[in-house]
Amino acid sequence: MVNLCNMGHLIAPSILAADFANLQREVEAVNDTEADWFHLDVMDGVFVPNISFGMPVIKSIAKHAKKPLDVHLMIVDPDRYIDAFHALQADVLTVHLEACTHLHRTLQAIRAKGMKAGVALNPHTPVSSLHDVIEELDLVCLMSVNPGFGGQEFIEHTYSKVRELRAMINRAGSSAMIEIDGGVGINNWSKLVNAGADVLVAGSSVFNSPSLANAIRIMKGIPEQSQA
Ligand code: DX5
Ligand code: ZN
Repeated sequence: MVNLCNMGHLIAPSILAADFANLQREVEAVNDTEADWFHLDVMDGVFVPNISFGMPVIKSIAKHAKKPLDVHLMIVDPDRYIDAFHALQADVLTVHLEACTHLHRTLQAIRAKGMKAGVALNPHTPVSSLHDVIEELDLVCLMSVNPGFGGQEFIEHTYSKVRELRAMINRAGSSAMIEIDGGVGINNWSKLVNAGADVLVAGSSVFNSPSLANAIRIMKGIPEQSQA
């Protein structure tokens, strides 16, 4: 069983911002950094107004990835695909609260497969809507942009949601992790960690940086390495 939670906060580069024409190279580049997870965004063109990639691409990524796979499903009716993502070696499987009619059942089904169960909340969805499932989940992904696209501007209201969620998790005695997704970069990572975030997803801020490895080191709070 992969240990998903090291000490300190985690960085999960989002492959959505990688060069898809050189996917193996991009995956290997992330393997060689201090990053903790691979964040994989699956979009169906229905739940969100964009289509990204699906099973065949994740299968190819899994062949080369040496870090846990954090799969973020932006799709309607995700229950239909829990078995498929388990077969693809997903370690964390996150569904959107807004896409699940029977969220409690969905979370149980994910955990029954041995995966960590995550719930993502759109920016408009209150943290309080998780009150009755907080003990059934392993991760909450707070969307800090409207899902569907990389490279969007971070929504500042997210900080107060992180603090509220941290208080809810502590009150419940839960070990759920708080993940932030969208518009995260070198300017806001430390403020998010101070507010209580455990996992930071970073797409364009790391893949568009001159040094992927250093961008990740900065966001991990460890000294940069000089360029060869
Ligand atoms: C957006 C996705 C994000 C996206 C983040 O719907 O869920 O994971 O890749 O990209 P950046 O970091 O560029 O905002
Ligand atoms: Zn995502």
